[in-house]
Amino acid sequence: MPGVVIVGMQWGDEGKGKIIDLLTRDASMVVRAQGGNNAGHTVLIGEEEYKLHLIPSGILHENRQCMIGGGTVIDPKVLLEEMQGLIDRGTQLKGRLWISPCAHIIFPYHRVLDRLYESSKGDRAIGTTGRGIGPAYSDKANRIGIRMGEFIRPDLFKKALKSVVEMKNRELVRLYEAEPMDFETIYKEHLELAEKLEPFVSSVELAVDRAIRAEENVLFEGAQGTFLDIGNGTYPFVTSSNTTAGGICTGAGVGPSAITHTLGVIKAYTTRVGNGPLPSEEQFLDPHEAREVGTTTGRVRRMGWFDAVLAREAVRLNGVTSLAVTKLDILDSVESLKICTGYSLDGKLVDEVPTVAEDYARIEPIYEELPGWRSDTHEMKEMSDLPKNAKRYLRRIEQLCGVPISILSVGPDRDQTLILEHLFTQKAASY
Ligand code: IMP
Repeated sequence: MPGVVIVGMQWGDEGKGKIIDLLTRDASMVVRAQGGNNAGHTVLIGEEEYKLHLIPSGILHENRQCMIGGGTVIDPKVLLEEMQGLIDRGTQLKGRLWISPCAHIIFPYHRVLDRLYESSKGDRAIGTTGRGIGPAYSDKANRIGIRMGEFIRPDLFKKALKSVVEMKNRELVRLYEAEPMDFETIYKEHLELAEKLEPFVSSVELAVDRAIRAEENVLFEGAQGTFLDIGNGTYPFVTSSNTTAGGICTGAGVGPSAITHTLGVIKAYTTRVGNGPLPSEEQFLDPHEAREVGTTTGRVRRMGWFDAVLAREAVRLNGVTSLAVTKLDILDSVESLKICTGYSLDGKLVDEVPTVAEDYARIEPIYEELPGWRSDTHEMKEMSDLPKNAKRYLRRIEQLCGVPISILSVGPDRDQTLILEHLFTQKAASY
């Protein structure tokens, strides 16, 4: 039963989009399991650039079934715009894109509250994407969320929305002295959106189970990254879903035995957007030249050196089987590369990320330095083609993480990738 999970090993933006797109060639089904339009993948196919937020990039491959699982939160307007964008470019969606009735809906009050919560948090503000993600997941946990299955049934939807809008208005007006929201306006607008989405709603969970039982190759794509996980990440500077491999199983409605390989995607250095700790932070390259500007919000990403403490923790938290190292080429011009191998906290050596936010500021990264390769790796096709120092850098990463590299990316195009192991068949390729 070949089920491959792809998970980000840092704070998102590891370049999962390209790797997912690549592995989709061997899969018949791709499943998105958590998060919402806080995520963003850029996929480059020839000259065409596709920016996707909710729909699995598998949609760009003919005949692949693409699933949006019950663990996601969906802004219906954004999803429909994304769908229309694909239809306009000739992509067939009918019969290929399916949305779980268990997925939760993001409403306008979630977006408003996201901003109000952020602005009242002071220096504990997270720097969210402002897409209403946290408030939508709060409503899910609070059991007042509206799910896709209810959303597409006008009578049930009306009743549920009326009661929630009343609650939200009490919060907006009394707590934040903000304008109340008009139930009729939201209802009318969303009724139309629900009607358009209805033909795509079906039991994703059942379809995934059938595919796995039929021994088809199923790809589970994680969104965000390990350290944005609500439980295991750098809390409170995290998103509101479980972004690790276990959360992907829950969000897709499968058990862990469905997973045969967990691929951890990790950049050859580290980045993060939004607030929160980044122990190895150093802006050692121009973020525009390094293509470190967000797909979703256009924000410039913070940069840092490769952090092996984080990487090891991500291997452990996800049960990572192998690594996909991305953006090695970005380091082509760097003279000397640092790798963070440990942290010192108040003079004591620590080997894991602290659990209390206040301790992050006192972390001192411990570095080792390796010489750069100062040559172009974009055209490299085999591991043996790589400059000696690039191989040395990668070997050190493998050693520090305790798992092998199975995929290496040296540029944004599909063909700028070295495949060292075929994950669905587990066959090693020229390595
Ligand atoms: P939220 O998910 O919008 O609530 O944002 C919470 C934190 O997660 C913020 O620091 C965001 O910048 C970050 N975040 C959310 N989604 C992504 C992503 O797809 N990539 C990188 N960071 C993300």
